[in-house]
Parts: sequence; structure tokens; C-alpha cells
Amino acid sequence: MLTTRFCETFGVEHPIAQGGMQWVGRAELVSAVAEAGALGFLTALTQPTPEALAAEIQRCREMTDKPFGVNLTILPSIDPPPYDEYRRAIVESGVGIVETAGFNPAEHMPEFRAAGVKVLHKCTSVRHAMKAEQIGVDGVSIDGFECAGHPGEDDVPGLVLVPAAARRLSIPMIASGGFVDGRGLTAALALGADGVNMGTRFLCTAESPVHEKVKEQIVAGTELDTELIFRPLRNTARVASNAVSRKVVEILDGGGAFPDVRDLVSGARGRKVFEDGDLDAGIWSAGLAQGLIDDVPTVREAVDRIVAEAEELIARRLPGMYSETGAGVSREGAGQAV
Ligand SMILES: Cc1cc2nc3c(=O)[nH]c(=O)nc-3n(C[C@H](O)[C@H](O)[C@H](O)COP(=O)(O)O)c2cc1C
Repeated sequence: MLTTRFCETFGVEHPIAQGGMQWVGRAELVSAVAEAGALGFLTALTQPTPEALAAEIQRCREMTDKPFGVNLTILPSIDPPPYDEYRRAIVESGVGIVETAGFNPAEHMPEFRAAGVKVLHKCTSVRHAMKAEQIGVDGVSIDGFECAGHPGEDDVPGLVLVPAAARRLSIPMIASGGFVDGRGLTAALALGADGVNMGTRFLCTAESPVHEKVKEQIVAGTELDTELIFRPLRNTARVASNAVSRKVVEILDGGGAFPDVRDLVSGARGRKVFEDGDLDAGIWSAGLAQGLIDDVPTVREAVDRIVAEAEELIARRLPGMYSETGAGVSREGAGQAV
């Protein structure tokens, strides 16, 4: 059985997390992730009000008695949501784990600390991960350039970012961006991580509350089918390639400003993609991981398969390649990954 510091710190069976996903991180998906023994996060800002978030937490509790968390994404905004009230809703509902993302969560830490809430901070650079450790978070989730959503502006893929972070941190750290299977989990552990965080893989599961057409598109999509929007604004987001995201890139590359794309990138349009399955209605997040996804399993099937594949690699394939005497590699060990 595969157990890491991440499992111990956050009280889950498997070293796998489902990161917050706008419009997707609802009770149906998160409870399924919890039931499968991994760590799922409801997405606070998917709920229109802090009261609605409290109700969603309650709904999730009715679906599982296993631990789950809430994602609080703190992004720059002209008209910011009432973050303090969302935080209070989380604390008062007794949820024991929070995934913070976006801005440094320092101002929220005292209340989370006082309530004994564990904080997993998701960031995209070693310096931000170190800062998070300094302000007292319990773990870090580090998103490489491959990831869906906001990869930051440094463009460092996981192969370098994960070990670079691992050698500077002492708290548990999970690797994020491009992970979908047991090979990825095994690689993340070898690079010094204590587990993986996944978005796109969980978006494409039976319990994910999005239209089937979105899931079919992810299965059909390759690692080439994403766009990086908002690059010139230094607020890069990796989204699925479609008519709208390509148009946004074209307008901004041509010298346009945010007001020129505001309507195209509205949350309401993106939500329509997920609800109606109109793939060109707006922008929707998806990562390079699309290129490695071939099916729409249940969450349990996905998690069980990842764990079984990683265990097979660690316990059999890799030892088959190693011998104390250097006497050679067994045929089995030299074979393809499971
Ligand atoms: C549809 C979708 C919506 C997302 N929304 C959020 C969000 O609201 N907050 C957040 O912190 N991360 C968000 N993410 C990022 C994921 O939590 C995760 O970090 C990322 O998907 C990891 O990369 P992967 O997709 O390659 O696994 C989103 C990802 C997807 C696919």
C-alpha cells in the first residue's frame, strides 16, 4: 500500500488530490473523490454566496463521511467576492481542510489556524511555495506549466519545478499539472513529491457534473489542444483550444486590452459550455493532460487504477530493473509500463 506524508497530514488513504475547479467542484464529484480515498475540494466561489457554500458543504457531508476540503481561490478582481465571509462559512461548517490558491493566504491563516483547519496552498513557483511554508501552511501543491487554469508566468514544467521545490521545502508537497495515471504518480514520488493533484483527469470522470460533450472533447483532445490566454496581461490561463480561446489570443496578441475580450471570457459563457455542452460558447480550463486521457471512468475506477499502476511500477517494474550486483536487467523489468 502506498502511503506518504501527504496521506498522514491530511488524513486520506491515497496520495491523490482533486484540486478546486470552478463550476465542477460540487458535492457530486467531491464526495465521490472522498469515497475513493482521495482528497477532493469543493470550489467555494462556484457557490453564489457564503450561505450557499455552507449548504453545499452540508450536501457533501450527506454523501460521504470521509474527509474532504474546500478550495478558496483568491484572485485579483475589480469587484472581489466577500472572501472573509466565505472563509467564515468554511470554518463554521467544521471543514477540516482548505486548498488556497492564487494570492498568498496570509490574511486567512490566523482564523484557519485558530479553528484547526489544515491548509494546502497551491502555487506555481518555488519562491511562492517557500513563502507559503514560512507563513505556516501544512502542505503545498505545486502547479507546473502543464496545468489547466493558471500556470503563472515562469513557464517551468513539472520535471524541473517539482524537484526544485522538493529540495527547498520541508512540509509535504504534491505535484500538479499533467498527472492522470500511475506512471505520473510514480514519477512525482521519484521527483520528491508526496503525491499528485489532478484537475483535468477528474473533470473527465462519470461523476463530474459537466455535459458529456465536454468529456468526449477531452478524450478526443491531444496535448496540443490547449491555448494560453491572457499572456500579455501577465495573468496566463491554460484553457481548451476552441473558437473563443483562439479569438482571445488573437485579439490580445494584436495589441487588444482586457475590455476587448471581457465578454468572450465571461464566467457565464464558460459555465454554458459545462451546462449545455456547447463547446464554443466560452472558455473552459483544460490541461495538457488531455493528451493522456482516453476514457471517462468513475472516480473510483480512476483512483484505483492510478494507485494499482503506481504500486505495480514501484513494487515490480522498477525493482526488476535494479540489481545489487549490476548483473543486468530482467526481461520483465525491461518491458513497457503496465
Ligand atoms: C475546469 C477547471 C477549473 C479549474 N478551476 C480552478 C479554480 O477555480 N481554482 C483553482 O485553484 N484551480 C482551478 N483549476 C486548476 C486545478 O485545480 C488543478 O490545479 C489543475 O487542473 C491541475 O492540472 P491538470 O488539469 O493538468 O491536472 C481548474 C482546473 C480545471 C480543469
